[in-house]
Amino acid sequence: MRKNIVAGNWKMNTTVGEGVELANEVAEALNNTPHNCEVVICVPFTHLVAVKAVVDTDTLGLGAENCSEHDKGAYTGEVSAEMVKSTGATHVILGHSERRLYFGENNEQLLTKTRKALANGLTPIFCVGEVLEERENGTYNDVVKGQVEALFELSPEDFSKIVVAYEPVWAIGTGKTATADQAQEMHAHIRNVIAEKYGKEIADNTSILYGGSCKPTNAKELFAKPDVDGGLIGGAALKADSFMGIVEAFN
Ligand code: 13P
Repeated sequence: MRKNIVAGNWKMNTTVGEGVELANEVAEALNNTPHNCEVVICVPFTHLVAVKAVVDTDTLGLGAENCSEHDKGAYTGEVSAEMVKSTGATHVILGHSERRLYFGENNEQLLTKTRKALANGLTPIFCVGEVLEERENGTYNDVVKGQVEALFELSPEDFSKIVVAYEPVWAIGTGKTATADQAQEMHAHIRNVIAEKYGKEIADNTSILYGGSCKPTNAKELFAKPDVDGGLIGGAALKADSFMGIVEAFN
């Protein structure tokens, strides 16, 4: 059956020193706190090696926030999936709305990045989600369906290694969380879209995380929904206390 997962996305925050301290705090808190979910922290590229040195990735997964669609070569400033893997990382966030909106990443590139991540043994946390206008004009189900379908060239075996994160863009960093019912409705929709393509077993085994102003105060209600299998956490992942508060929502 699918796993419950709480993943932090630090975005472009913390220096290496601050990041190592935060990772240490999270790792220590996890060791001292019984928890019923897998926990992952996704950190800036610059932090991966130093954070890997202080965490045991068997108990705390470590991810990058992006990777290149290319393997190697003259792509100044890019970081390949193989490089990410070579740091000891286990996961990579792909298709975050900030990458799609500010860096123009499209479905085709995201399929390629996903293939590279999988080929290097990384677990992609693949983000989808509609913007406010699409929520308001009622096209959100189709928009998200299209984003998920971008991966439908993957084999069933490969697709079954993906973690999906539904992050309504209007809820990210705004303090405006989707209601638990809105999240459930979309997560069930995503699961149906996957089931139509890959069958019920793969759909039932796919972890679908919610992201967007998830906090210790609302995580329990969100995670109680049958199709919400955890969270992808931005702001609240930058403090060990609040991140652990969300991890403990599964207790
Ligand atoms: P916030 O939790 O800060 O709203 O960010 C969510 C997010 O974008 C995680 O990837």
